[in-house]
Amino acid sequence: MLSKIVIIGAGAAGLFCASRLGLRGFDVTVIDNGKKVGRKILMSGGGYCNFTNLNVDANHYLSQNNHFCKSALKRFSQWDFIHLVSQYNLAYHEKEQGQLFCDNSAQDIVNVLINECQKGKVKFKLQTELYDINQTDNKFVLDTNQGQITADKVIIATGGLSMPKLGTTPIGYKIAEKFNLPVVPVRAGLVPLTLQQSLLDILSPLAGISVFANVSTVKSSFNGNILFTHRGLSGPAILQISSYWQQGEAISINLLPNEDLALFFITQREQASNQLLKTILAKLLPKRLIESLIELQIIPDVVLKQLSARQQQILIEHLTNWQIIPNGTEGYRTAEVTLGGIATDALSSKTMEVKSVPNLYVIGEVMDVTGWLGGYNFQWAWSSAYACAVEM
Ligand code: FDA
Repeated sequence: MLSKIVIIGAGAAGLFCASRLGLRGFDVTVIDNGKKVGRKILMSGGGYCNFTNLNVDANHYLSQNNHFCKSALKRFSQWDFIHLVSQYNLAYHEKEQGQLFCDNSAQDIVNVLINECQKGKVKFKLQTELYDINQTDNKFVLDTNQGQITADKVIIATGGLSMPKLGTTPIGYKIAEKFNLPVVPVRAGLVPLTLQQSLLDILSPLAGISVFANVSTVKSSFNGNILFTHRGLSGPAILQISSYWQQGEAISINLLPNEDLALFFITQREQASNQLLKTILAKLLPKRLIESLIELQIIPDVVLKQLSARQQQILIEHLTNWQIIPNGTEGYRTAEVTLGGIATDALSSKTMEVKSVPNLYVIGEVMDVTGWLGGYNFQWAWSSAYACAVEM
């Protein structure tokens, strides 16, 4: 008889894994503490779910072992997931940088997953919260708020800690510790950065303004919009860099990455040397941002012809390498993902099985594999789930 499998977590990874195992004939039960399945999927991509990315490869993931995700991403790629949703005639579009979104609603993705689970006769126990797991006589005994559940095999798909209001719990990490698995320290990723009050006093009036920029730290660099907020900085380029940023470190912002500023000033000196520098720069940047940069003494409040060659050089340096030291992040409340998690060293990259505990598996965000913004995290959920299901 095929084993009784319990999957903990009816998120992206848990649902997809359940469907694949169900279709293979396994007896699969998914338990989740929520009232409905796929809650994060429904919230994702502004309600349109950025379900994968055309450019998926291992370079778009952070982990202590960058090689771990390669095999699973190859065995169930973005093309495989696109093929699956295409079978349901799901309407989707590419937004930018390979990011694929639903045309109608994220519910379309949840519907595909529910349908696949129904085909595989997957059972669900919702509003069932896992508290603990014990192992006796080659079986797992799960303690939940609905009583005990036994299983031959258990798959941990409990996700990360971001967006606590969606029912996140640290149970995945606790189970890992209980079974002596290493856990890479967790922290919020893809998260807005906060600024110290003195800087915020000058920049918070810009809340809502967005500019295209290049943002970098020592380890990484991203092009994209940055958004000024009442608490600091957000927008795609900031969210991306937040996953690489370490407390205390400066980020460098190039406010004009596509502009040859030396050439720009040569032209402007020929055509408009009697104009105020701020009027000239308003051809390139929002006026309110220029006012704030004057207050920060990054832009001198002078007529262009009064700007010496040396001052121009310093101005260009400041506009293309604006150094800001964030004082923190907004944390899990607004983060899209959790960095760190169950260490991949403890897992088989082929099956996602815990090397030291046969029949215990880990998939999705709860492990130390975190994608960039842009559909990479859902692709990891699909790929790791598939690797687990197909090899069982
Ligand atoms: P996921 O978090 O989806 O599921 C885990 C499930 O386990 C949850 O249902 C939870 O309730 C349940 N659970 C936890 N503890 C439990 C317990 N003790 N007992 C029972 N059940 C328990 N990614 C992307 O690629 N494209 C995008 O557009 C977005 N957008 C986005 C928006 C927002 C607002 C957030 C917060 C996140 C995203 N993401 C994203 C990230 C993406 O949602 C995330 O990486 C995946 O949902 C992870 O899938 P998992 O199945 O691993 O966890």
